[in-house]
Amino acid sequence: SNIPVITIDGPTASGKGTVAHKVADKLGFHLLDSGALYRLTALQALRRETNLNDEHALAKLAEHLNIHFAGDAIYLSQENVTDAIRAEEVGNTASKIAALPAVRQALYGLQLSFRKTPGLVADGRDMGSVIFPHAQLKVFLTASVEARADRRYKQLIGKGISASMQDLLMDLKARDDRDMNRAIAPLAPAEGAYLLDTSAMNADEATEQVLKWWAAAH
Ligand code: C5P
Repeated sequence: SNIPVITIDGPTASGKGTVAHKVADKLGFHLLDSGALYRLTALQALRRETNLNDEHALAKLAEHLNIHFAGDAIYLSQENVTDAIRAEEVGNTASKIAALPAVRQALYGLQLSFRKTPGLVADGRDMGSVIFPHAQLKVFLTASVEARADRRYKQLIGKGISASMQDLLMDLKARDDRDMNRAIAPLAPAEGAYLLDTSAMNADEATEQVLKWWAAAH
């Protein structure tokens, strides 16, 4: 396909979601929040009390997700789950089931289907390495674990949810560890990706940098 794709991968709370959103808005491109697909599968599994070791059952769940995106809202079987999928428990479960090859395979075609004119911004862990290896621009966003925990802390407090900095740091490290060390599609910069460390950058500055790279890339 010639339809342009920009991939933005990186660890949890690196700001890639916000940056992907802003870049897509600026360019009028579609947006794929691939993490949301793993979170939706996790939410469904938690609700149905699916055994989290049953790879086959989880893959089936992933394959038959009834999802619907409406602007920034995400629906699972007609229910608005935009906030529900952001819960820490759902994120942690997502990262566990994302290590299962059959689950990743089940979500593969769905992810490709987001590539529509005039273009796509895809954010996740393996957008540039596995799903869209021929993307016209690949970016790997990083930030120190402290900067990321700080952002997550402010997000939660802003939403009126209490949080402990120490727990957040521990969770982030555990999630990084799982995402980077799994056998399949581990979190790592894709071949040819531009690295962007956002520890001391806000989302607008990071967005500007990605747009500059995009202007130079095509
Ligand atoms: O990005 P987000 O935190 O929403 O992703 C939730 C989890 O889904 C991640 O911790 C990661 O394990 C998994 N994921 C993945 N591949 C992607 C996107 C997310 O394995 N492309």
